Amino acid sequence: MTHIIEVEHLVKSFGSVPAVDDLSFGVEEGTITGLLGPNGAGKTTTIQMLLDLITPTSGIIRIFGKEYRSAREAILGKLNFSSPYVSLPGNLTVHENLLTFGRLYGVKELRRTIDELVDFFEIRDFLGKMTYNLSTGQLTRLNLTKALLNNPKLLLLDEPTASLDPDIADRTRALLMRIQKERGVTILYTSHNMEEVEEICDRVIFIQHGKLKDQGTPEELITKYGHEDLNDVFLSIARNPS
Ligand SMILES: Nc1ncnc2c1ncn2[C@@H]1O[C@H](COP(=O)(O)OP(=O)(O)OP(=O)(O)O)[C@@H](O)[C@H]1O
Ligand SMILES: [Mg+2]
Repeated sequence: MTHIIEVEHLVKSFGSVPAVDDLSFGVEEGTITGLLGPNGAGKTTTIQMLLDLITPTSGIIRIFGKEYRSAREAILGKLNFSSPYVSLPGNLTVHENLLTFGRLYGVKELRRTIDELVDFFEIRDFLGKMTYNLSTGQLTRLNLTKALLNNPKLLLLDEPTASLDPDIADRTRALLMRIQKERGVTILYTSHNMEEVEEICDRVIFIQHGKLKDQGTPEELITKYGHEDLNDVFLSIARNPS
């Protein structure tokens, strides 16, 4: 199995306490991998380092086998992200946002690409709406549409299903699985919904206090910890002080 992401001894300190503390893991090509852990575990910090938005204190990140310092454009050209905390300009319509980001990414045949993605994510009905008027679920779909404009090989998603009603969350899960299966995209994403993670993740990585606690397929971990489901595995890991 090829590792699309390789992280070795990654550290990020804000002041004296490390938010990410000697973290090493790999993400296999073509998988949906869940980056899991309690509030404050270091998930968002890790995703931000994987996006080169913040610089690691130490450690190595290789994406597509390359490091940012020597291949920043090549890496960023083949990945994309969505985060509820990074919002798209609200004073543009949905269509204007897609055109703007598509041009920023240098997408060839932009109108055809947008047209295809708009159908894939079923957002045609609100293309003319101002982005600030969208509901959370509509914004999620717009964010995912934007994230696929450059035909990425890797998607990094921070809590893509947070704040969604059960119906829209279910549709979003279905979309993530379709993105993986039909477009062959590797997805690393964070979530606090263990039922969802069990349903769609091929592998999971548990972190706590910035350190790797365990990893494997959901089934492997459920068996290893002798539990019924991943929620109980989460509680076991999060409540074990070691
Ligand atoms: N810019 C920053 N300055 C100082 N401390 C920070 C900064 N960003 C994150 N932290 C701290 O780093 C730790 C990890 O935060 P992070 O946001 O990565 O956690 P998380 O796993 O994403 O949590 P959540 O599940 O709540 O989203 C926390 O203790 C947080 O307070
Ligand atoms: Mg977070």
